[in-house]
Amino acid sequence: MPEPIALHLLLPRVPDIELVAIEGLEKLAHHLGLAAQKVGEAKLIVAEAVTNALEHAGGDRPSVRVEFTVTTDEICIFVQDNGNGFDPAGVQDPELTGKLHAPSKRGWGLKIMKSLSDDFRIESGAQGTTIIIRKLLS
Ligand SMILES: Nc1ncnc2c1ncn2[C@@H]1O[C@H](COP(=O)(O)OP(=O)(O)OP(=O)(O)O)[C@@H](O)[C@H]1O
Ligand SMILES: [Mg+2]
Repeated sequence: MPEPIALHLLLPRVPDIELVAIEGLEKLAHHLGLAAQKVGEAKLIVAEAVTNALEHAGGDRPSVRVEFTVTTDEICIFVQDNGNGFDPAGVQDPELTGKLHAPSKRGWGLKIMKSLSDDFRIESGAQGTTIIIRKLLS
């Protein structure tokens, strides 16, 4: 079992802060010599998860906790916000044909994250939302 490397971040809601998380993951991946395509997919997952979390984080101090645990076998991504939570089962899966004529073109983040993950879990409640993702590298 390869030794994992972890990075823990607590992001305030300031413009472009999701780039810090993405770059952090990139540095770990570079250190471990991980395959560029898998890392690119993981960065996309992080961008979607962190932007959702930043958008919905709440309270006096909106903040988002991000944790990466990386080995040469897998990337684990943990993103937690302190927002009001939501019911994932109540979110409709987007469809391209429907979205073409819909007033809002948004609603792709969860679908993108799921499709690029090997394991995707959401825990959400009144205290906030946690997303836990596992992406295998082989
Ligand atoms: N961390 C979160 N806290 C609360 N609600 C969330 C969170 N993440 C997602 N949601 C809810 O799930 C819906 C779908 O999220 P998703 O990322 O798929 O789409 P979006 O953020 O609305 O649009 P896009 O990601 O395409 O810009 C959101 O509109 C929101 O209602
Ligand atoms: Mg989104």
